[in-house]
Amino acid sequence: MKRIGVLTSGGDSPGMNAAIRAVVRGAIYNNMEIYGVERGYEGLIAGDIRELSVSSVSDIIQRGGTMLRTARSAHFMEPEGFKRALGMLENFEIEGLVVIGGDGSLKGGLDVSKAGVTVIGLPGTIDNDLAYTDFTIGFDTSVNTVLQAIGNIRDTSSSHERSTVIEVMGRSCGDIALYAGLCGGAETVLIPEVEPNINAICRKLIQGKNRGKLHSIIIKAEGVSITTQELADIIHDRTGLDTKVVVLAYIQRGGSPTGRDRMLASRMGYKAVELLRDDSGSRAIGIRGTEIVHYDLADALHMTREYNSDINDLAEILSI
Ligand code: F6P
Repeated sequence: MKRIGVLTSGGDSPGMNAAIRAVVRGAIYNNMEIYGVERGYEGLIAGDIRELSVSSVSDIIQRGGTMLRTARSAHFMEPEGFKRALGMLENFEIEGLVVIGGDGSLKGGLDVSKAGVTVIGLPGTIDNDLAYTDFTIGFDTSVNTVLQAIGNIRDTSSSHERSTVIEVMGRSCGDIALYAGLCGGAETVLIPEVEPNINAICRKLIQGKNRGKLHSIIIKAEGVSITTQELADIIHDRTGLDTKVVVLAYIQRGGSPTGRDRMLASRMGYKAVELLRDDSGSRAIGIRGTEIVHYDLADALHMTREYNSDINDLAEILSI
């Protein structure tokens, strides 16, 4: 393969830049031409495509966000937009495309692959919700950002003897809540994968208060059926605790990627180039344990995700 492209799509995640850098420099090292597509599939439709050089990706490994920018493209889902996107790949003679994004973005890549262009999917999302990989690019940074926030909130909650419900992102996946809750010593973690037991939560908070706890932190994933304000109101009504709500929202998606995310992005980005160089077909790149792995793109996207009940149990045990 002589000419490849790279795009980022969907919600951005810290480490996308490190992945772009690895793809660009890896391609040039392997004597391929590399084109950057701006604003994901939206830019592909519009032809916002330019050749990238070694220096195009200088000074980005440490930056959050994505230098190529990103979008959620409704136009690409329509036949006319999709056709135009394929036409652009043809115009620019791009034979292989690296798509960095979450589930929806990789599904878009699968559609492109079915039309005859080789697509390599890289899991770029803070949500950690892709079944075929243990971790996604951006998840670790996001968890660390939430941990920083928990620390700050804990200080003021403690001074004021308050409870705080902190809402974190993740769509229907509870991993950000689970990892941040366990590592941040939260009293309670609510995730979409497990039906919340409000009685047990209130009981635990009251028992904590009776033991002399000055504050409590409740981490709630955004995908949990009850709203965060409703939960805070119930806790207040049933326990009498002064209960605040903090929605961390987009704070979790920004910031300089952790070393772990930069490593993941660099390894996956370079693997994408190797697969394209070797004409290995359309693949999704992930990590299992410490090993970079890859699967047929369609197979990867059909896998069913199982949440980590061990971590949930541990968070519960250690927060008694
Ligand atoms: O998928 C990443 C994510 O940040 C989710 O955690 C969140 O639900 C969603 O994107 C928010 O999307 P948007 O940027 O479109 O508001």
